[in-house]
Amino acid sequence: MFEETLSYDDVLLLPSYADFLPAETSVRTTLLPGITLNIPIVSAAMDTVTEDRLAISLALEGGVGVIHRNLPPAEQSRQVGQVKRFLNWVIESPVTVDQQQTVHEVWEIMSSYRISGLPVVCDGKLCGIITSRDLRFCRDYTLKVRDVMTPNPVVEVGRPDIESAKEKFDAHKIEKLPVVDENNRLTGLITVKDLEKHNEFPHAATDTAGRLLVGAAISPNDVDDRLPLLKESKVDFVVIDTAHGDSKNVAQAVSRVKSRYDVPVVGGNVATREGTRRMIAAGADAVKVGVGPGSICTTRVVAGIGVPQFSAVVWAVEEAARSATPIIADGGIKYSGDIVKAIAAGAQTVMIGNLFAGLKESPGREIIYEGRIFKSYRGMGSIGAMRQGSADRYGHSATEEPVPEGVEGRVPYKGELRPFVHQLVTGLRKGMGYCGCRTIEELRDYHRFIKISSAGLKEGHVHDVMITQEPPNYSR
Ligand code: IMP
Repeated sequence: MFEETLSYDDVLLLPSYADFLPAETSVRTTLLPGITLNIPIVSAAMDTVTEDRLAISLALEGGVGVIHRNLPPAEQSRQVGQVKRFLNWVIESPVTVDQQQTVHEVWEIMSSYRISGLPVVCDGKLCGIITSRDLRFCRDYTLKVRDVMTPNPVVEVGRPDIESAKEKFDAHKIEKLPVVDENNRLTGLITVKDLEKHNEFPHAATDTAGRLLVGAAISPNDVDDRLPLLKESKVDFVVIDTAHGDSKNVAQAVSRVKSRYDVPVVGGNVATREGTRRMIAAGADAVKVGVGPGSICTTRVVAGIGVPQFSAVVWAVEEAARSATPIIADGGIKYSGDIVKAIAAGAQTVMIGNLFAGLKESPGREIIYEGRIFKSYRGMGSIGAMRQGSADRYGHSATEEPVPEGVEGRVPYKGELRPFVHQLVTGLRKGMGYCGCRTIEELRDYHRFIKISSAGLKEGHVHDVMITQEPPNYSR
């Protein structure tokens, strides 16, 4: 009747021989078929964790954020658009003007789109470019674009090449480079700002057009409200965000997203082999695993159900391996070592809420409490979050009295995402080094776990000392 189950704290990985250094490992992984991340980290679709700001910062580091769904569909899709527009290689449909428009109109367009240069198109062909540099000394706002623009701008013709674009920026000291076809029709725009961002963030997780990756959470009940807008904003994937993914309406929602919208979809959450099988049968491109491991979660206590997360991941991976469906281990990551364990259990990526809620880029302000800085973190099944829209994640209607499955709280402020993620990823690389695994795939196949006792767990944590200088990757 009883199957033994384990959580991350019950196990450790056995170290073994390595002939390389941790810095030489590769942490690239598959989020879902066709979408690769440069670090195996996804941020949780929670209203105190992932909005556009955090999603941008995480994707710049190589991971990906899932914009939560306690937002009206239009606002959620606007935020997706913000992430997609943050970084480009070639802007595919740049905003343009024609030469009859006035300087006044150009200023208005530039300030409403927050851009500093516009290609000028006449009869469908590129005839000039107008930038804030052309406008700097222009006091007559009634002048026409043709009087102020730079005619015959330097261009890239055909399929642009990054090296040739860089050379043109340097040689001509320009900041914008239109791309045209052989008939001088505008096909895109390259900006020096985007190239600089690519240099500053060489591991950014991007789509084939060089834009940052981003996902969005949806409910089984709002597929048709959110998907058209999200698709328009070029969302890379959606996540059916529910506490009980092994249910008829979630399976139907997965099938509907696939058949009607053709957008990659993550199904979940599940915590059993059968649940994983049903999600995959419904068409999920990846399955999210976790029922009850979240730090703010009271589901196991309120409903008496759940599976310790390490076992849940192992079971899901066993089932998903038959169809090579990726697994996202969602919840319960307390330290970087838990990421190593989740991946060695077979997951391709982990989803993180708590550890990210205290970052500068998460939604909400810093709070000072007893002289220390905090940020709020709450479950999407907490009373506050359910009142703001997430009730159906837990099978409630928005109007009934909430019976929460999560709490509202605060977590210590952690500063900026970039150095924090560096700590997490370097911890992962160290784990890979100790196991002699150079890649995420090798770690997924490593399987050399040992079960530890509570004495073993105690020994592994800091003991018999008062910490006087908290390190950035450890606190109790
Ligand atoms: P954490 O990183 O351990 O804090 O876990 C985050 C995960 O907890 C999320 O990605 C969700 O799957 C899950 N979660 C979010 N809100 C709640 C809740 O109110 N109750 C139960 N689980 C939740």
